[in-house]
Amino acid sequence: SDEACQERIRVARAKLGKKAVILGHHYQRADVYQHADLTGDSLKLSKLAAQTDSEYVIFCGVHFMAEVADIMTAPHQIAILPDLAAGCSMADMANLAKVERCWRELNEVLNAEEEVTPVTYINSAADLKAFCGEHGGIVCTSSNAGTIAKWAFERRPKVLFFPDQHLGRWTGHQLGFAMDEMVVWDPDLELGGLTPAQIKHARILLWKGHCSVHQMFQKSQIDAFRAKYPEGKVIAHPECNFEVCAAADYVGSTEHIVKTIKEAPEGTRWLVGTELNLVDRLAKEVLPQNKIVQFMATTICMCSTMQRIDPQHLAWTLENLVDGKIVNQIKVPEHEAKLAKLALERMLAIS
Ligand code: 13P
Ligand code: SF4
Repeated sequence: SDEACQERIRVARAKLGKKAVILGHHYQRADVYQHADLTGDSLKLSKLAAQTDSEYVIFCGVHFMAEVADIMTAPHQIAILPDLAAGCSMADMANLAKVERCWRELNEVLNAEEEVTPVTYINSAADLKAFCGEHGGIVCTSSNAGTIAKWAFERRPKVLFFPDQHLGRWTGHQLGFAMDEMVVWDPDLELGGLTPAQIKHARILLWKGHCSVHQMFQKSQIDAFRAKYPEGKVIAHPECNFEVCAAADYVGSTEHIVKTIKEAPEGTRWLVGTELNLVDRLAKEVLPQNKIVQFMATTICMCSTMQRIDPQHLAWTLENLVDGKIVNQIKVPEHEAKLAKLALERMLAIS
């Protein structure tokens, strides 16, 4: 039963003591989230992973997050993802072969190594972070993208941003770039589907990728909310499309969303454009202060891969560790980890 599984988790977790730390992303389901020792957005969790002394770092989140934990911890520490099938569909929209082809094609038009800083959103595979490490680039998250993009533009006049076009566009807009200076690179088309003149004119090349969860949120939902509740506030994650971000009162990472609403005055009403598990949890937490939190979409949209980390997988993982068996370890090959770490350390140094 559900309660029996919760008890198995508690027992195994207690036996592991300080040997293990459970990190939980804000999108984790309630029955898993409650077991996390530390929670946060991608940036906070990568910092926490870099700081922990625990031997086992159990990541309740998605694959790229566990990779970051492996990269940022010491060699004897072990990063574990309770279900190996917990990927990120956005991260899968870019891969090394396609990014390398893009780089080669850019070099037909420009001198990419001198003119373009590659910036990868942390929602990407470790080999793409390694690509950025190798080519003078950097990693960003949803909470530091502006600072990171400034760093990138201080080095080279253009940025290649992957895999999320929406975070890239919103960040470019915040830095003052015009829409025609931000062009979409379609990795399935030759030269990204662009002309050499467009590439030369562009300041940001936006990889054609998106989050399938955040693409559900539409500006029409904000308009309907504002018509009904003129005093209501709207907050969205920057993975939402440009129209949604532009129409929102606040845009930020999951940690920023949680903090903003928790610190808001009593009696305020909020429309939130991010994953449903986070919104549900927040709605319950702030209800005693008479704050109303509403989900932006009319349909249910959860991150199905975050959802894969369920109590059964967590119990199984912890019980194996109690028995001395390591399951579902995430291990990034050494040469890749070294370069990816370089790109991650550049990020952590300035955020
Ligand atoms: P945060 O870094 O804002 O938590 O975002 C992670 C993510 O995957 C959002 O979809
Ligand atoms: Fe990836 Fe979107 Fe899920 Fe975040 S919500 S982990 S970007 S698929």
